This record gives sequence, C-alpha cells and structure tokens, in this order.
Amino acid sequence: MSWKDFPKVELHLHLEGAAPPAFVRGLAQEKGINLDRVFDERGNYAFRDFTHFLQVYEAATQVLKTPEDYRRLTLAVLEQCAENGVIYAETFLSPDFCGGRDVIAWKEYLHAMKEAAQQAEAQMGITLRGIVTCIRHFGPDKARETAICAAETAGGWITGFGMGGDEGLGRQGDFAWAFDCAREAGLRLTTHAGEFGGPESIRQAVQDLKVERIGHGVRAIEDPALVDILAETGVVLEVCPGSNVALGLYPSYGAHPIARLREAGVKVTVSTDDPPFFNTTMTREYEELERAFRWGIEDFTALNAIAIDAAFCDEGTRTGIK
Ligand code: ADE
Ligand code: ZN
Repeated sequence: MSWKDFPKVELHLHLEGAAPPAFVRGLAQEKGINLDRVFDERGNYAFRDFTHFLQVYEAATQVLKTPEDYRRLTLAVLEQCAENGVIYAETFLSPDFCGGRDVIAWKEYLHAMKEAAQQAEAQMGITLRGIVTCIRHFGPDKARETAICAAETAGGWITGFGMGGDEGLGRQGDFAWAFDCAREAGLRLTTHAGEFGGPESIRQAVQDLKVERIGHGVRAIEDPALVDILAETGVVLEVCPGSNVALGLYPSYGAHPIARLREAGVKVTVSTDDPPFFNTTMTREYEELERAFRWGIEDFTALNAIAIDAAFCDEGTRTGIK
C-alpha cells in the first residue's frame, strides 16, 4: 500500500532542519552567501557524524536572516509535510536563529511564521503548532533567554517548550530554570534525551525537567527498568527512526528498537526530525516501518492516535484532527 496519503500526525520536526536544499540554495544565491561546506556534489546536505551534522545545520541557517525568510521557510516546509499526508505538525522553533533571543525580534519572526501557517492551513488543510526550543550546547544562560522568549509568546499556536542540540554537553537538570519558566507560562514540555545520551539522560529529563514527552528516547531500551517506568507513567517518545539510522545509532530500521519499545507498552510515535538531512519523509518512514516490522493500517492508526493524544494543542484542535 502507498502510505503517501495516509493521514499522519508529526510531533518532532525542526523547522530549519526541514528546509529543502533547493530552498536554502535559492536564498543563498539571492543573498550571495557561499554554502559550499553545506552540500555535497549531488546537492544534498553533507555531514560525517552528529557533531558535524549540528555544524552543517547551523551553517545552513546563515541564509535565514529575516522574518520574511522564515515566512517562506515555514510555507516550504508545510508544503512538504502536506504532500506526505501530514495533517497536523509541531515544529521546533529556535529564537537563537530568529533574532538572537531578542523578544521584540522574536515576536516579528513568529508573526511571519504564523502568517505562513494560516496560509498553509487554508490552502492545504495542515495545522501547525510551535515548540520554542533552546539549544543545549549553547548553554543554560542562553536557554534562560530562550525560555523568556517562549514565555513572552506563549499561547495561540505557541504551545510547547523544548531542547535540542548536543546531548553530550551538561546535564538535563542544568536547564531546569528554563523548563520551569516555560511550564509556569503554560507551555507543555519535551526535551531531546536518549538519542546520543544513554538511559540516564532520559531519567534526568523525566525527573529534573518533568517533561511529558521525550525527543527520541530510544536508548531507554538499554535499561529494562526505565522501559517499565516509561510504560507505567505514559511518557510519550517522539521516535525518529530514519534520523537514528542516518546518524549511525542503529544499522537499519530492522535493528531499531521502536517495535520492542512499543511491545513493552511504551507510547511511541513516528516523526522525521530533519527530513532532507536524513533523506527521509513521513511517507518513507511508514514504508520502512512496514517493511521492517510488517506494520499496517491498524498499527499506524494506533500510533497516530497516541500522537494526537500527546499533541501540544487544545481539545478543540485535537477533536478536529481525530
Ligand atoms: N537539532 C536538530 N536535529 C537534532 C537532533 N536529531 N538531535 C539533537 N538536536 C537536533
Ligand atoms: Zn530532533
């Protein structure tokens, strides 16, 4: 079966990481920016490992300089999502790349993104919610500033707060102030954990940041007691199998722990993370999971139901996507 038009909910998508290479090249040309170090000879994003991936990701954001650039980016990304059957998406949005964590500039960028989201909803029937995201390797002080941007713009389509970046640096608890600030502003919480960090990073995320969702979380599989805790507490994993395979965490979809986590009762969902970087789409994720685990309509319907329940949106929106 073709999964392209199957209605999908995607909870873990980095806005800049979803930028189509042609879009980034077009902006670079308009602005006279050299991006030789970002693309390979075929025009795909080129990186050697996770650290290099983060560097290339940040280099590509150099073309995104104005709210208008972000309006166009948001539209280009939502077009790709809608083409792959996504009806509801949440994207990570980083004030670090949008005016440098300045609240006034951040509001202008958000306004432009919101306009694009409204256009996409009207034209393509896709709904977008935003998760303001601090970047771990920029450190706790910048995370505080990001949280203040988040708190100042909480409400409406800005519904969550999260953290991405290099999980190897510092501890989750170092960022507790930022997560507390966001929670007090009414935002729902998620953080990247258990991707390049081990099970301990997931335990810290749950205990110290009190998040209700975890980005990736797949390395919980290395700690059976933690798997039980996740299953019992209902913490939702935003699993991105293609990202994990592309970044060398697992050699293949068949070796990926998503099916074992699901069988153990953990609430798993499926997303793409940074689709053009990892040569994937939501359609491809479904195709690969079907091939690896024989998952079919019932499985994907159940996964989407979990994602809808875990979505950072109000009940009216949730009912609308059910
Ligand atoms: N930022 C963009 N993609 C990421 C990933 N897979 N892990 C951590 N930070 C990221
Ligand atoms: Zn991610």
